[in-house]
Amino acid sequence: MLTSGGDCPGLNAVIRGIVRKGIIAHGSSFVGIRDGWRGLLEDDVFEMSMLDVRGLSGRGGTILGTSRTHPYEDGGPAQMREVIARHELEAIIAIGGEGTLSGAARLVRDEGLPIIGVPKTIDNDLDATDYTFGFDTAQSIATEAIDRLRTTAESHHRCMVIEVMGRNVGWIALHAGMAAGAHAILMPEFPVTFEQIGAWVTSARDRGRAPIVVVAEGFVPEGLDEQVADHGLDSRGRVRLGGIANRLAPRIEEVTGIETRATILGHLQRGGSPTAYDRVLSTRFGMAAVDLAVERRWGTMASLKGTEIVAARMSDAVHSIKYVPRSRWDEARILFG
Ligand code: F6P
Repeated sequence: MLTSGGDCPGLNAVIRGIVRKGIIAHGSSFVGIRDGWRGLLEDDVFEMSMLDVRGLSGRGGTILGTSRTHPYEDGGPAQMREVIARHELEAIIAIGGEGTLSGAARLVRDEGLPIIGVPKTIDNDLDATDYTFGFDTAQSIATEAIDRLRTTAESHHRCMVIEVMGRNVGWIALHAGMAAGAHAILMPEFPVTFEQIGAWVTSARDRGRAPIVVVAEGFVPEGLDEQVADHGLDSRGRVRLGGIANRLAPRIEEVTGIETRATILGHLQRGGSPTAYDRVLSTRFGMAAVDLAVERRWGTMASLKGTEIVAARMSDAVHSIKYVPRSRWDEARILFG
């Protein structure tokens, strides 16, 4: 098994679920592949036993390490085939987000490699599963942070702008903002004018509240053509989003006259222990993935439908991004201001 792409709370619980269920129910044996596709390309693998996964369900990060190495780099599939044959691997379980699952789906379709997927991302933007693990932890961390920022905002009669992650979708912003009772939630899916943001902030202040604005990192404010990305490109050439809160705060102060501060939560949202919900979901995903591998259902992944864990095609999960639907925006915005 390997973990690839950005890390996410719950990865270790998946690994534990795979190893324990595989050994107990199927008599399987396992190797861990270090740092995602890099380990498979460079033959950086180690045997794993029950002892290696002891006490892992509550631990953040990934004991396997991760990287953003593309599976078609450095010899690509031919190199992987050699490593797979050398260690007599019957299946690869790839735990990752959109990039990992796209690569895995292509390796199954074009190269016939035996791969099963497990969907992960704090952004919750993958289709073909109701939720991904990591999202609940991220929304909980963000909610607690907003609660804390609210008390200092109230003391100083300030407005607080809190930026959360999510790439091109607003799921973390929507859920954390709603949970913490934000006065405005700004998401990439739903553009709003500065006048509207100013009106929400002013209305909250006029009711004696310290206005709380939650903004998703991918939100594009009026007057800008593209998302704010103050930190250049990542190793895959994608923009590193972040910085919108620092642009919004002075504009809000200018429009409303209310002293305004910005906080960017950043990688805090991905670190530390997973919530109980994420531990359970990731353990169930891991156990289901090993069953799919035993059944040799290559190209599929574990997925959540309602409360059931089912199989879905990896290609369906990455076919389109799961945006926040308009109905959720209409529902939430009634409470703004
Ligand atoms: O996809 C998860 C995520 O945390 C996004 O929300 C964020 O935009 C990105 O990864 C940050 O990536 P990195 O860890 O490479 O800075």
